[in-house]
Amino acid sequence: MRADTILILDFGGQYAHLIGRRVREHSVYSEVVPCDITQEEIEDLTKKFNIKGMILSGGPSSVYEKNAPKCDPKILDLNIPILGLCYGHQLIAHFLSGKVEPAVKKEYGITYATIDKPVGVLEGLSKKEKVWMSHGDTVYELPSEYETLAHTENCPIAGFRHREKPVYGLQWHPEVIHTEHGMLMLKNFIFNVCKCQPNWTMESFVNKAVDEVKQIVKDHKCIIALSGGVDSSITAVLAAKAVGKNLTAVFVDHGFMRENEPEFVKNTFEKFDMNLILVDAKKRFLEKLRGVIDPEQKRKVIGEEFIRVFEEVAKKVGAEYLLQGTIYPDRIESGFRKHSDKIKTHHNVAGLPTKIEFKAIVEPLRDLYKDEVRKVAEKLGLPKEIVWRQPFPGPALAVRIIGEVTQEKIDIVRKADKIVTEEIEKTKIKESLWQYFAVLTDTKSTGVKGDARAYGYTIAIRAVESKEAMTASFAKIPYELLENISTRITNEVPQVTRVVYDVTHKPPGCIEWE
Ligand code: XMP
Repeated sequence: MRADTILILDFGGQYAHLIGRRVREHSVYSEVVPCDITQEEIEDLTKKFNIKGMILSGGPSSVYEKNAPKCDPKILDLNIPILGLCYGHQLIAHFLSGKVEPAVKKEYGITYATIDKPVGVLEGLSKKEKVWMSHGDTVYELPSEYETLAHTENCPIAGFRHREKPVYGLQWHPEVIHTEHGMLMLKNFIFNVCKCQPNWTMESFVNKAVDEVKQIVKDHKCIIALSGGVDSSITAVLAAKAVGKNLTAVFVDHGFMRENEPEFVKNTFEKFDMNLILVDAKKRFLEKLRGVIDPEQKRKVIGEEFIRVFEEVAKKVGAEYLLQGTIYPDRIESGFRKHSDKIKTHHNVAGLPTKIEFKAIVEPLRDLYKDEVRKVAEKLGLPKEIVWRQPFPGPALAVRIIGEVTQEKIDIVRKADKIVTEEIEKTKIKESLWQYFAVLTDTKSTGVKGDARAYGYTIAIRAVESKEAMTASFAKIPYELLENISTRITNEVPQVTRVVYDVTHKPPGCIEWE
């Protein structure tokens, strides 16, 4: 059965990915596609998906700029319902030869919209609605076959629709939680305008992912890069369902793991009926990182070395395909989208070398967010300690050591990390935290230990709350807990003389320091 699907055309906006996710929250499948997808490509996709609607995302450009991203205007004639959001809203108006110009007053953040006509996507809304805006341009005029549905103080056409066809535009972002009734607006579009059936479940996802792996790998052999985190663990279980004993799970101990991590992976996965290989690659990773200080370089070196190890194992077991547990935020931050910025090279995405000896890299979780991944994990019956593990980056402690990675620094940060984990896990706070860990900074400072001068390292503690890692808030954990952590670290790790707490939200600070 082809699932009812909403296509999201990505114009590079910060929240384009969130739209897809919000659609899935309504149990309707969504695919995010590049904005320049052609009418023919869309028609081709209908073989796989029952495309019931399209949402044009926001984006950082102005529609009248020379190189502004555009979609094929012919998609407006496909007779598929369309909803333009922010840039998408302006683009539809631009295609129709409406008037789009810089706003007299730009609107960023919370704004109150007046709903002039609560119909279509705006059905059931009040006269005044709290909406979230982020735009410099505004639609001033539309052809007569369109009608205005909403306006704000600075934006005369903040919502519109075609009088007969299912084409809508909203200047604000319903996908952002600050738009109070954003979910209702999307729900109206998905169900009332597009007439979708809510037939997308985690079960459908599992079936789709298993089918995809089967179709690509067929009866060849493959390996899975298993880190012990929830993403790669699920990928391993899905792949085992798809290809059985043709799968070998490979855990690479690069030496930057947290305490007892290799043992945890071994004990956990030996219980699954799966070929498992543990590779001790500690020496070679450390050698490759000698003298490397730049964080992006570090990530690239690690990404490449991972692949080289996997290639060697693949040769031994005769595997032609590599499976990875890459999820959507990994890809976003690695800048895989045409019109958005690269934040950092996630080891398993842009960290990959250009020449790879695999027929293909298969990433069944590539469109999911962490909390969706956890739902899949529960569906697959993975043990709780895996489902709810805090995320841990592939380059591991190496990106939590600022500056060159040495064995001494690894030992310091590993000990400090263990203390942070132990102390936080004694408390109930753990349940509200997304991640908590120690970072070894490259700052040294003077202290006094046992009446003697001590000149040692500074450890930073990071503890954050987050929903899907795209944004995060530093956690306001109690001073007593920080005190316990600090006392233990300075007592138990002799090289450390100072402990600080990181009070930076994301943005602007990433969760990891490198
Ligand atoms: P940042 O530091 O970008 O992290 O705010 C967002 C989330 O991603 C994790 N992270 C990674 N995960 N490979 C991964 O598998 C990586 O290279 C990587 N870098 C960061 C990070 O721990 C956080 O949960």
